[in-house]
Amino acid sequence: MLIPLILSGGSGTRLWPVSRRNLPKQFLSLSGDGTLFQQTVARTQRLPDVRAPIVVASEDHRFLAADQLLESGVTGASIVLEPVARNTAPAIALGALKAMEQDADALLLVLPADHLIGDTKSFTDAVRQALPAAKQGWLVTFGIHPDRPETGFGYIRRAESIGDNAYRVGKFVEKPDLSTAESYLKDGGYDWNSGMFLFKASRYLEELGTHAPAMLAAVRQAYATGHKDLDFVRVDGDAFAKVPDNSIDYAVMEKTSHAAVIPVDCAWSDIGSWSALWMSGEHDAQGNQREGDTMAIDTRNSLLRSHDRHMIATVGVEDLVIVSTPDATLVAHRNAAQDVKKVVDQLKASG
Ligand code: GDD
Ligand code: MG
Repeated sequence: MLIPLILSGGSGTRLWPVSRRNLPKQFLSLSGDGTLFQQTVARTQRLPDVRAPIVVASEDHRFLAADQLLESGVTGASIVLEPVARNTAPAIALGALKAMEQDADALLLVLPADHLIGDTKSFTDAVRQALPAAKQGWLVTFGIHPDRPETGFGYIRRAESIGDNAYRVGKFVEKPDLSTAESYLKDGGYDWNSGMFLFKASRYLEELGTHAPAMLAAVRQAYATGHKDLDFVRVDGDAFAKVPDNSIDYAVMEKTSHAAVIPVDCAWSDIGSWSALWMSGEHDAQGNQREGDTMAIDTRNSLLRSHDRHMIATVGVEDLVIVSTPDATLVAHRNAAQDVKKVVDQLKASG
């Protein structure tokens, strides 16, 4: 059986001031119908032999996740709650433990809740193509053809073919520096890691046990001492606090020799920052993307979003991000969009 595991624990700080601690980006409608989380759930419904999803999210967002699932008409989902964030490697391990209670042979389709996919059919086809390799024990990634030397992604070097549109991963490099990313782009043999994975839950836990045994032991302990509360699976807080913090990419994918990649062209984007949102969406003739009450005179290549009743008017500017909400307004250069998280860091530091 195929079980989607939806990772919804991120905080989305680079999309401040719209994305907030209590309402992070995956639970917002930023583009298209429904929230990013709901679009992710909907995308899983067309897959073959698919079961209700397992959602792994922060305890703080339990009602957001539950309400948005209900609104999507999805029943039977499990929501596993993390008392603190320990990044994706432990979150996926929790999902794998939960899935194995349902079926020891369960296949897990790991999906970040904050991605946009324009072409659902290509996504579904790629998951189908990945099934044989995952059943054979490969940890399957989905590779995206890179068009820029992005340093915020993992890079995958394709090695020999192992099946229909499936390749062994020769090398996996998480978030390389700019010159390395540039050399990979020039080389042509690398894909971006989309952050979606398909594998047997049991195989992931085995690989985690090999490459990060202390993490696996700590996650097992926290899961075993947790409890069920209404529809939620609550992980033990003290035990989970002891789990080392790491992503699946560093903890497992860079180390394993059992990774495979399925190249996929599904109009994918990781809505990580305002510039990524600007890049993925539609533009007017001047290259602007506008939401809400805005007026753009002699303005180019800018993102203007008014999330309140204030009008944003710009004159004679370019490459700006301006986002206004009832209690905060962001003005940033589009090239500095990654640094918006510094605002959140400073706000946190100042209490
Ligand atoms: N439940 C849970 N708990 N989810 C989490 C946690 C956590 O502690 N941390 C992150 N997530 C969720 C995020 O909400 C997101 O949906 C997903 O896991 C990936 O985390 P990110 O923090 O967004 O990772 P990234 O974008 O820096 O890098 C990953 O994705 C890239 C593609 O978008 C890596 O897999 C890269 O290799 C990849 O290229
Ligand atoms: Mg991301």
